[in-house]
Amino acid sequence: MDFKTQAVPAAGLSAVAADGLLVVLATADAASTLDQPLAEEVARLLRDGDFECKPGQALYAHRVAGVKAARVGFVFAGGTSAKLLRKAVAAGLALFKAGGTRNLAVATAGFGGLSAAHGEALVAAVCEGLYVYRDTKPSAPAPGKLKAVSLLCDKSETAAAAEGLRVGQALAAGTTLARECANRPANLCTPSHLALQARKLAKDHGLKVEVLDRKDCEKLGMGSFLAVAQGSDEPLKFIVARWMGGAKNEAPVVLVGKGITFDTGGISIKPAAEMDEMKYDMGGAASVLGTLRAVAELKAKVNLIGIIPACENMPSGRSVKPGDVVKSMSGQTIEVLNTDAEGRLILCDALTYAERFKPAVVVDIATLTGACVIALGHHRSGLFSPDDALAAELLAAGELALDPAWRMPLDEEYDEALKSHYADMGNVGGRAGGSITAAMFLKRFTARLRWAHLDIAGTAWKSGLAKGSTGRPVPLLTHFVLARAK
Ligand code: BES
Ligand code: MN
Ligand code: ZN
Repeated sequence: MDFKTQAVPAAGLSAVAADGLLVVLATADAASTLDQPLAEEVARLLRDGDFECKPGQALYAHRVAGVKAARVGFVFAGGTSAKLLRKAVAAGLALFKAGGTRNLAVATAGFGGLSAAHGEALVAAVCEGLYVYRDTKPSAPAPGKLKAVSLLCDKSETAAAAEGLRVGQALAAGTTLARECANRPANLCTPSHLALQARKLAKDHGLKVEVLDRKDCEKLGMGSFLAVAQGSDEPLKFIVARWMGGAKNEAPVVLVGKGITFDTGGISIKPAAEMDEMKYDMGGAASVLGTLRAVAELKAKVNLIGIIPACENMPSGRSVKPGDVVKSMSGQTIEVLNTDAEGRLILCDALTYAERFKPAVVVDIATLTGACVIALGHHRSGLFSPDDALAAELLAAGELALDPAWRMPLDEEYDEALKSHYADMGNVGGRAGGSITAAMFLKRFTARLRWAHLDIAGTAWKSGLAKGSTGRPVPLLTHFVLARAK
């Protein structure tokens, strides 16, 4: 998809040259600011009771007299924020998706100045709305005719809006990569496949990639990661990908993504219902790849390292068993009380490994706990960090990117639950505060780091009718990294 800005014609929106024109009205009053043919059409639609001033209400009109564009859509946003614009464009886009529109012009009325955030919101809505998974489904609907989208701007808005379109397209490319990886079934999206994706990213976008195998991990003493991987016939991969766009001596941002390509639960096996969804348990890894892609595409002046411990969590004769004690790379021992709490077991060794890069900050991203879904649902990711400044940066990035998170507590009192009779800690802390005790477990491996943890179990994918990966939190992470590059 091609995105660009377009100047508002002197004669008004009715003169816009495009095969489709979507008019986004901030409020009902905004209709009166349109030029006559469009203003009259909206007035008619309202009078006839075919259109209501409700957020997200969209209506299509064909060959409106006096309007150059053959297809016209109207949609109410209900306000001027980027978030409302995104929702409105999503609703408005549906009017044009199936038809003959090749180039769509999107005009806003009553927004009182478009910012970069509006440009980003437009791209996000269009790319999300047009995404179709077809990798293993040849019968998926063919892509529509839409090839180009332009955002109509006044002179004073053009620079900011164009910047928003540029960043938005990089975000969309990263988000789409994450969605493609996470949607791909686990028989295809194996740890080796994730390594291949990282290598491809390196080749296409100038990253450096290193992939460690089991022997390497043994040498490093990653007993915890190895314990999870040992039950599977699928070889583990420990992927390290670097985008070195910053100064040589500049401390890097390190992102660590949980890469469980399928989570059966292991010997503590999960129930059969909806177990297929555990192919998304590499959503953290996918978001790291997606963020690397977005940041590299923008050629951001920042050093960014992605670390992905990748393996399957399977039951077998070689699997780690409840009660087994393993030694992590940090030297701390762990009693594996529940083999289904495997994410923290692979992340802890990756966090210890991250120390060697002397990072400015480390953020891990993981579909870590069902408890986080209970706590926050599917709208906000769980954010955990003992570092107030880092937490504030991540929360702000999430708000700006329309990919929001919510901070959760890490009081030392929660650590009690991890005590073990047989090791330095257990890997589970009971049902109460499950997302917090999981984060407390990770915290034990971050004494030498500025660290934050994002639990994306509720936000990385959707179940039900709209089942599939969301590509979150690529927008949050990319904005976080870009803000640090400034
Ligand atoms: N990958 C799951 C977490 C998960 C569950 C994500 C449901 C999305 C939806 C994770 O490995 C897991 O199994 N966690 C357990 C931890 C428990 C055993 C302490 C959980 O949440 O039930
Ligand atoms: Mn699990
Ligand atoms: Zn898992």
